[in-house]
Amino acid sequence: MKLTGKVALVTGGGAGIGRGIALELASEGADVAIADIDPNRAKESAAAVETSGRRGLAITADVSRRADVEGMVEACVRGLGGLDILVNNVGISKGQPFLELEDETWDLVLDTNLKSVFMGSQTAARYWVDHDRRGKIVSISSVDEVLAFPFNAHYNCSKAGIHILTKSMALALAGHGINVNSIAPGLIETEMLRPSMGKAKWQEGLPVKVPLARVGTPADIGKAVVFLACGDSDYVTGTTLYVDGGHMISGASQVLAMFRGE
Ligand SMILES: NC(=O)c1ccc[n+]([C@@H]2O[C@H](COP(=O)([O-])OP(=O)(O)OC[C@H]3O[C@@H](n4cnc5c(N)ncnc54)[C@H](O)[C@@H]3O)[C@@H](O)[C@H]2O)c1
Repeated sequence: MKLTGKVALVTGGGAGIGRGIALELASEGADVAIADIDPNRAKESAAAVETSGRRGLAITADVSRRADVEGMVEACVRGLGGLDILVNNVGISKGQPFLELEDETWDLVLDTNLKSVFMGSQTAARYWVDHDRRGKIVSISSVDEVLAFPFNAHYNCSKAGIHILTKSMALALAGHGINVNSIAPGLIETEMLRPSMGKAKWQEGLPVKVPLARVGTPADIGKAVVFLACGDSDYVTGTTLYVDGGHMISGASQVLAMFRGE
């Protein structure tokens, strides 16, 4: 048990990767607060945490709003007696072709995916500094922080922002004993991906895109979060861990294979 006595707060923990993270943290002994815009999902995940024998707390919050972000940290501290680990997991995609991309969609995606990381991390860090405590921040980016898509400029920019924000915050907070890292998942099985996974062509292309030839699970991401949240990674800060089955290293070989007609 690597996280006994620790309290974690997972944003967007009501479903998908966030729920997987919450359950992996709980399985290592952490009590877990789940902040989600959907109150029912938050309650379901908190109940699942309790099933594993830890305390779970459901918090309703929209992480794109500062008042909600500050409220979720306060609720976690009040409800679970503190905060040791913040996982900034919320992310939305809202794909739109670049020529049709609207300001409102840009703002929504950037506020939800990136500004939320700034506000959440700042609020947690202020709590740790004010209370003379150490802390761990883990933010969920994506391989799309590097791999560009023509219909996802806004999502790409939000994830690239998390990449450099992680490094800026790691520098700013190192002197306070706060570690800041991010995880970039590849293809992970959640509601977002299931419709594509059913298609034969998609299945055929999978081993080309992903050297390990399988889609990842929320638990794969959760286990990486446990590493960055526990004492084993005390000397790790400002880094991005790619948890993608090799997706990021397959790009060049795909292009080469195309030129060779393989
Ligand atoms: N699924 C993938 O293949 C994949 C790949 C790379 C990165 N990611 C990233 O992983 C993270 C989780 O993705 P997922 O696939 O589990 O998503 P998901 O849509 O399955 O779950 C997201 C959760 O966040 C909640 N949420 C949405 N907007 C919110 C807001 N404003 N405030 C609070 N909660 C909100 C939703 O209610 C939901 O419970 C995201 O940051 C995503 O960009 C996912």
